[in-house]
Amino acid sequence: MSRHGAKRAAAAGGGTSRDGGSSGVRGAGRRAESDIEVTGLYKIFGARAKEVLARAQSGVGKDEILAETGQTVGLHDVNLHIKGAETFVVMGLSGSGKSTFVRCVNRLIEPTAGQVMIGGVDVVGLSADEIKALRRTRMSMVFQRFGLLPHRNVLRNVAYGLSVQGVSKEERWERARQWIDVVGLKGYEQMRPSQLSGGMQQRVGLARALCTDPEILLMDEPFSALDPLIRRDMQDELVRLQRELNKTIVFITHDLDEALRLGDRIAILKDGRVVQVGTPEDIITAPADEYIEDFVRDVNRSRVLSAGLAMDPVTALPLDTHPRTAQETLQQERRRFGFVTDEDDQCRGLVLLDDISAAVRRGDRDLAAVVRPDVPTVRAGQHLDELLSIAADSRLPIAVLGERKRLLGALTRRNTLAALAGNWSEGGAMESTDNDPGNGRQASQKPEKRDA
Ligand SMILES: Nc1ncnc2c1ncn2[C@@H]1O[C@H](COP(=O)(O)OP(=O)(O)OP(=O)(O)O)[C@@H](O)[C@H]1O
Ligand SMILES: [Mg+2]
Repeated sequence: MSRHGAKRAAAAGGGTSRDGGSSGVRGAGRRAESDIEVTGLYKIFGARAKEVLARAQSGVGKDEILAETGQTVGLHDVNLHIKGAETFVVMGLSGSGKSTFVRCVNRLIEPTAGQVMIGGVDVVGLSADEIKALRRTRMSMVFQRFGLLPHRNVLRNVAYGLSVQGVSKEERWERARQWIDVVGLKGYEQMRPSQLSGGMQQRVGLARALCTDPEILLMDEPFSALDPLIRRDMQDELVRLQRELNKTIVFITHDLDEALRLGDRIAILKDGRVVQVGTPEDIITAPADEYIEDFVRDVNRSRVLSAGLAMDPVTALPLDTHPRTAQETLQQERRRFGFVTDEDDQCRGLVLLDDISAAVRRGDRDLAAVVRPDVPTVRAGQHLDELLSIAADSRLPIAVLGERKRLLGALTRRNTLAALAGNWSEGGAMESTDNDPGNGRQASQKPEKRDA
């Protein structure tokens, strides 16, 4: 059997954290006790909520209900499972129900129907005291308009949650100082909020929310009052913090770029209903309907799509493969190149079919003489914008590596461009018109997310 000694990489999944590393849901930080599970959640605003609820539950939409009854449907049968330690973004146009949703999670708003479970505890069933205790200890909220106490200085604002918890003055000031330092406001401890810029006030809000070390952060458009550069700064800050903290973050925004930058997953709301839930790549590559297509039309795809999504499968050849076997394998798979791997499946370099044929003629016994070790490599979680210059410069395909540098697949200039162009064919398969080496194979592959 000629495939002896060869195997296909690429089907391997590996881990799935988006940046290929430490952050996010699926690694060590995964914490089921801070899962938020929302089932059949409705919020009707108005005096006849229960009566209107029945109409909504029978499928009547927000506009019709408003016209008929004068009551507003805030949330309509929302079902979401937010995983512990994930950054979950809720996005939608103004009035779509984002604030209502996040406020139902901590019961600043009472749901009309449905269940909100936090780590297995039904929040809707908690008494007023219990919900207060939950807000004090396990979750914090960051508000759009900062919500700082105007007559207290920065230090006392940040320490506020701890004073409510009854933590001693010394300890709360020490912890507040640490967080003030983390958000870059050292030296401003004695200032009043009015003496700070908007961005600085928002940092105070963030430090205050983090100071009680809550498992869950609820953030309702926290950055939307900031100008674009400071906003960008704050987004980076949050990403950096989250890498270390692994909080469960529910982040509200109406800005798609922000959602794509921050979210492990994104839910899109329209008229109180969830229209789509998925990773940024899911939303970009397979928008559920026209509403979402409109949202994603102008987005910079290269910042969202990862090498793991755009890559093609490859043939992996162990270093001790006999050149004749390697030649047969590549010919069978209609490829003009393969990748050489060691016993740990790590990539050792590229081999071209032409070089292998020369090795066969010479009578070589393995691939050592024909490996090109200088093949460019990227991590599966890297976004295409980081790879464009590599793809443009390299005449060789780029090896896409997963955890522990395991070979997962390859990127050619052609499939990089196809992914950027949104060039998926009908069955979800990538158009295969490549003339890069190795793309002689007939069947194109369905793109699957394979981050590591
Ligand atoms: N207290 C309230 N009384 C009556 N209707 C309300 C109330 N709060 C919200 N609504 C209605 O519920 C719907 C959802 O409002 P919500 O504030 O959740 O929207 P949003 O997505 O947060 O919008 P924005 O982006 O403007 O903040 C809207 O139609 C709004 O009119
Ligand atoms: Mg809102």
